[in-house]
Amino acid sequence: MADGNSIQGDSKAVARWIWRGYMRHHLPITFAALLLMALEGSMMGALSYMVGPMFDELFEAKNRAALPWIGGAFFGIFAIRAFAAFGHKVIMARVGERMMAALQHDIVKHMLTLDMAWFHVTPPGNLIERVRGDTTVLSNLWNTLLAIGARDTIATISLFVVAMRADWVWTLIAIAGFPLLVVPVARLHRLVRAKARQVRAAAADISTQLDEIFHGVSTIRLNRIENRETDRLRHVISGYTEASVKATARRAAIPALTDLVAGLGFLGVVTYGGLQIMDGTKSVGEFMSFFTAIAMLIEPLRRIGNVLGVWQTALASLERLHDVFDMQPTITSPARPATLSVPARQADIVLDDVHLSYGDTAILNGLSFTARAGQMTALVGPSGAGKTTVFNLLARLVEPQSGRITLGGTDINQLALTDLRDQFSFVSQEAMLFDETLRDNILLGRTDISDDRLQEVLEAAHIADFLSGLEAGLDSRAGPRGSKLSGGQRQRVAIARALLRDSPILLLDEATSALDAKSERVVQEALERLSKGRTTLVIAHRLATVRDADNIVVMDRGRVAEQGSHSDLLARGGIYAGLYQLQFSNQD
Ligand SMILES: Nc1ncnc2c1ncn2[C@@H]1O[C@H](COP(=O)(O)OP(=O)(O)OP(=O)(O)O)[C@@H](O)[C@H]1O
Ligand SMILES: [Mg+2]
Repeated sequence: MADGNSIQGDSKAVARWIWRGYMRHHLPITFAALLLMALEGSMMGALSYMVGPMFDELFEAKNRAALPWIGGAFFGIFAIRAFAAFGHKVIMARVGERMMAALQHDIVKHMLTLDMAWFHVTPPGNLIERVRGDTTVLSNLWNTLLAIGARDTIATISLFVVAMRADWVWTLIAIAGFPLLVVPVARLHRLVRAKARQVRAAAADISTQLDEIFHGVSTIRLNRIENRETDRLRHVISGYTEASVKATARRAAIPALTDLVAGLGFLGVVTYGGLQIMDGTKSVGEFMSFFTAIAMLIEPLRRIGNVLGVWQTALASLERLHDVFDMQPTITSPARPATLSVPARQADIVLDDVHLSYGDTAILNGLSFTARAGQMTALVGPSGAGKTTVFNLLARLVEPQSGRITLGGTDINQLALTDLRDQFSFVSQEAMLFDETLRDNILLGRTDISDDRLQEVLEAAHIADFLSGLEAGLDSRAGPRGSKLSGGQRQRVAIARALLRDSPILLLDEATSALDAKSERVVQEALERLSKGRTTLVIAHRLATVRDADNIVVMDRGRVAEQGSHSDLLARGGIYAGLYQLQFSNQD
């Protein structure tokens, strides 16, 4: 039962959050929609009411004079319904879509503040499904709740009044069975919610899988694993299908039960009322009016009965969203950020006894080194040694378990994150491009760059070289993740971004590794020009590219194995010398 309580507590918090954050401020416009819904609902009562005079005046009394007003009244009822329904649907769609858009915007914004560690364990499909799938319940929920709250409630009341006026005994017979539904329906609701949650999780699995498939098309083809992939997909889809059918079955059981009970009511009323009409104590018109009202009552009543089912289903999604909002980043700016005590260009970067592990795997084991201001420091070492990790640490994309990292003597934890990250231009191992034009990919939203400056950068990064080969030059789209460009071209875009950023500290992670020898040399020159007077950290596997570095830090098993200038290290005859000899003898 403790579990049940905690779930209930959660659902209250979720309801409060949704109401305050997204629903409440739409109330004024919604009020107009509510009036229209109430109008639509009351027309149901009017309709069933008019069945009485239709039978009694027209069919029984054959009163010709009544024909125009009864006919006109029917038309009027439908005309009002048409106008009211159209109006509230448009208003509600507007409100619902806006609510959803606001939620989508907020959740993505929040996700972007969360720790990288979370993104490493949460597949993109899962994230996309939360943003795209789970948020849609909000507009559904809102529309359903209001439709039920206004239209169905008014319809139920007005139909009930018509039925009671016709004959209250008949009415009581018709609805006598409904209280029996309370317990089984409440049970079903709990089951619906559990299944709905499974459905959402399964939907996320499908999106994750699709994301992998479509990003891996060429890998799939080249390894000829089309069948393996479609089998894997079929497996997750079938999980979804099963959960979805079960959830629907549980939801559908609720109106089915309502129908059964309604059927019993009808049985009773037809028997009892039928006898009264045969005896002549009641008119056909009265019975028909009553019968129409009760028949029309079933639908809104069924929807009202399902309101909790709708809420339970929505809750499954809303909880998934609430969980995300509940999550707080651990890597944050301090409450009172410090400012650098020296200009960033004169700030040494010092790592002091830094330890970092992913889970149980230690990656950095007391790493200590200094990258002197204005100098070029190279990080070399075997693949997986933790070189890229060092860059991520500097920008605080990850946090060490222990140790200190300082910039000009100030602990980087003391700086505002934005301030810290502004100090770096980062050319990463994998250049990430967006599906926008090349120009947008380079400018990244900056509007302060003159055409001349842009042209300069294009030349320096050797983008100008391949622009002429693209159909729309700088305005060609890069394709999803930059797929229309080659690896070397993407790398040059990343370099151009770094040139434009013009930050005091340059972090180059295999920045020229994807370039051919000739482009590498020219781009290298451009980077060297850029690095003049800036603190530069370079990661390179090809040792020839870091020969001129002021200090070369050789990393091995998470710590510094040796460091010094190229000639120092060669003279030392250690790891670096060995590696260098190996590459040197391989090259020529
Ligand atoms: N998010 C992560 N979760 C778990 N382990 C990780 C994660 N990121 C990196 N690692 C591990 O950390 C180690 C260091 O990774 P890093 O990317 O820093 O290596 P690297 O020195 O840059 O290697 P390379 O030269 O191949 O680029 C690797 O063994 C890698 O498996
Ligand atoms: Mg790396």
